[in-house]
Amino acid sequence: MNALFRKKKIVEGEEDHGLKKCLSAVDLTLLGIGAIIGTGIFVLTGHAAATQSGPAVVLSFVVAGLACAFAALAYAELAAMVGGCGSAYGYSYAAFGELIAWIIGWDLILEYGVSVAAVANGWSGYFNNALTAIGLGLPDYLTKGPTTGAWNMYLGGILEPFGFDPKSEAVVKAGMGGIVNLPAVMIILALMVMLIIGVKQSAKLNAAMVAVKLLTIAVFVGIALFNVHPENWSPFMPFGWFDHTADGKTVGVLAGASLVFFAYVGFDAVSTAVEEAHDPQRDVPKGIIWSLAFCTIIYILVSGLLTGIVPYTSLNVSSPVAHALQSIGYNWASALVATGVIFGLTTVMLVLYYGLTRIVVAISRDGLLPGFFSHVSPVTHTPVTVTVICGLVMALAAGFIPLGALAELVNIGTLAAFVLVCVGVIALRKSHPDIPRPYKMPFGIVLPVLGALSCGALIAFLPLITHVRFMLWLAAGLVIYFVYSIRNSKLRTVPA
Ligand code: ALA
Repeated sequence: MNALFRKKKIVEGEEDHGLKKCLSAVDLTLLGIGAIIGTGIFVLTGHAAATQSGPAVVLSFVVAGLACAFAALAYAELAAMVGGCGSAYGYSYAAFGELIAWIIGWDLILEYGVSVAAVANGWSGYFNNALTAIGLGLPDYLTKGPTTGAWNMYLGGILEPFGFDPKSEAVVKAGMGGIVNLPAVMIILALMVMLIIGVKQSAKLNAAMVAVKLLTIAVFVGIALFNVHPENWSPFMPFGWFDHTADGKTVGVLAGASLVFFAYVGFDAVSTAVEEAHDPQRDVPKGIIWSLAFCTIIYILVSGLLTGIVPYTSLNVSSPVAHALQSIGYNWASALVATGVIFGLTTVMLVLYYGLTRIVVAISRDGLLPGFFSHVSPVTHTPVTVTVICGLVMALAAGFIPLGALAELVNIGTLAAFVLVCVGVIALRKSHPDIPRPYKMPFGIVLPVLGALSCGALIAFLPLITHVRFMLWLAAGLVIYFVYSIRNSKLRTVPA
């Protein structure tokens, strides 16, 4: 019996995992929007416009969105087809077997875990600004963890082999940092409690916060539409499509696309909710496609308007959207946007954290990680153990580790998962041509091929050091697989 049927047999054979089926297509779409719109549009757009794409950042969003659209359609085909074994982990299992599935699962753990901890750092900055505005700002040593430089000193230079240069300008400028990023720790612990309480409750909270986030964006669009100065769009593409600066940095629309790709990370989290969806084969594909389509339109609109209301050169700040509104005299709207960002980033963390726990549960249920990770509480119907363990690890990371550079790992991890999902569609069309596919990507294998190529190209545009770090993470995963998982796998022991 091949991997797809073995996997479906295991998943369907265990009737009740204890997780509650409570999410509709609308809940799933809102989860998608919750995970997608965040740091990418509210923070990275400004950086990408100022340093990589210019006003053509809107094209960077189109390019990254296109690569995601191919991947989203591939996710939709697989979600509709293999239903029960959700997430890129489950699909790779069906398409390629255990080892590749483990690699992709390990990769997704990195994607979601690092995203949550990194976004918590950004959230902390906005939250402390809001506290400062009402006279309750926290001191620096409680809003910043130790910097990489400080860690390198405590650890006796151990970080240097990993691409860390203790004498670089950025490190010297960053200094020693503070003691702990307290707000980042607290928000992760608060989300941990929320996810333990229940999924339907978390989905409701998510929906409310998504509404605030969308309202903020509507206010921005409403104001910006009447304040565009078309001369700000010229020159439109000051850095071209792809180029290198004198100091070796990559610039241009395509490099910008690799960066703003982060803004799309999260639509795949919808696929991790299969076991809690009312009708996964129908609703998960809808949730994925609707949320991605909606967010792509928003991104094109916001990034186009942002570079139209102020010169792109002024956007390299931590909150470009709020900053732009302030510089055209709308202080109240700027404060509203800052509040929207706080809610917006909270939903990103909530949904990605949720996705992380469901992936670990799926991997653990297959025996590739210890069984206690998949224990579901009979009272709350949520996987309490894994929620607590992931929460504590991410809270420590967000509180004490400088995550800036690591955030790029999220993009490479996600892109690698997308490549495999696209290739998975092709592999399963060959190995199981007759399995019913309630949704099928049109035009034969053209779209999955384009998806794999475009996501692969975006990987190539990322900095070399990101590739090296990613390889180190994968190497660690392979060690765990060959030391633990291979001996404890449950699917391997099912008779063929
Ligand atoms: N897409 C999410 C964000 O932009 C991760 O914050």
